[in-house]
Amino acid sequence: MTLPATMKALLLKGDGYAVQPSGTVLEAMEPYVEAATIAVPQPEEGQVLVKVRLASINPSDVMFIKGMYGQPRKQGQPAGFEGVGEVVAAGSSAQALALVGKRVAFPTGRSNWGSWAEYAIAEAGACIPLLEGVSDEDGAAMIVNPLTALAMFGIVREEGEKAFVLTAGASQLCKLMIGVAKEEGFRPIAIVRRDEQIPLLEGIGAAHVLNAEAPDFPAKLAAVLREEKPRIFLDAVAGPLAAQIFTAMGKRARWIIYGRLDPAETPIPEPGQMIFMHKKIEGFWLTEWMGSAGPERRMKAVVEAQKRFSDGRWSTDVTAVVPLEEAVARVADELAKPNGKVFIAP
Ligand SMILES: NC(=O)c1ccc[n+]([C@@H]2O[C@H](COP(=O)([O-])OP(=O)(O)OC[C@H]3O[C@@H](n4cnc5c(N)ncnc54)[C@H](OP(=O)(O)O)[C@@H]3O)[C@@H](O)[C@H]2O)c1
Repeated sequence: MTLPATMKALLLKGDGYAVQPSGTVLEAMEPYVEAATIAVPQPEEGQVLVKVRLASINPSDVMFIKGMYGQPRKQGQPAGFEGVGEVVAAGSSAQALALVGKRVAFPTGRSNWGSWAEYAIAEAGACIPLLEGVSDEDGAAMIVNPLTALAMFGIVREEGEKAFVLTAGASQLCKLMIGVAKEEGFRPIAIVRRDEQIPLLEGIGAAHVLNAEAPDFPAKLAAVLREEKPRIFLDAVAGPLAAQIFTAMGKRARWIIYGRLDPAETPIPEPGQMIFMHKKIEGFWLTEWMGSAGPERRMKAVVEAQKRFSDGRWSTDVTAVVPLEEAVARVADELAKPNGKVFIAP
């Protein structure tokens, strides 16, 4: 296949980390990325070149382009942590060469060469060749959220208690996790901030859905915690809401923070609970889990995620697919709409 010398991409404007944090909402793309034409990258040993069909936009991408994620930006490189596309070239390794011609879901991972571009570089070992029944939208969102959902549900399973608490309950990630939990007889307690999401989440298997902005939230939360006695709290929001929930939970509660959608300060109102009630505060990061889980657990999660998408137990809710040329102008408005993912189509 003859490859072009240049491609269109959305390049990072900033470098390293932000000096001033700017909140977790993407107010506009323009301050952080710019559309440009650059050389098509060359895959090195063990890497593949992917012709991108769709790239997803996750909260982690937003934090990254703003310089507020756990990895530094490289000015002038394309943004985007995951996507789907066809492998069109490979560096010299049998594993990479075997992927040429295949449609794969890919994380941009170590190469740091983002997916918001016509072509992207990925590590061959991290690519997932896709079954025919998996849509491009599911493929483009196959890694970050699905693997995190399975890995974190593994923590719930190991802890043993059937009930567990989730903030940002209507996120794509929580919807995936609620589906798995329902199948296995677990009882997710989802916290949201919109009434319209209550029937939606009850319909897919949440045992309770509470609107944190309702005036009776503290009373309802206390009643549900008394009834269900959850020990695990999977938290993507942090801030005062998460602190309120954790403080209301009982002995040996584990607050596992995996996102920080609320940029406000996160108080610990009752530090004594850590001493006398054996409560714990922890973090979860998929990147670390991928390194520490070992190849067998990692592969099991990858196979499981793909199976769930291909047999229809999981599907990705789509808000919009935005052409790359329109992304700088349109993405912020599309991301402001609830209940689905936004994709970039190069
Ligand atoms: N640590 C890891 O390894 C890891 C891996 C994957 C994902 N994550 C995190 O998981 C979270 C969910 O990701 P996703 O892609 O599934 O998200 P998503 O589908 O884009 O949904 C985001 C959700 O967060 C809610 N939200 C946003 N800001 C909020 C705030 N200030 N207070 C309360 N709720 C708020 C939104 O509520 P509305 O519906 O009301 O707008 C929406 O339901 C993100 O924080 C992401 O960074 C972490």
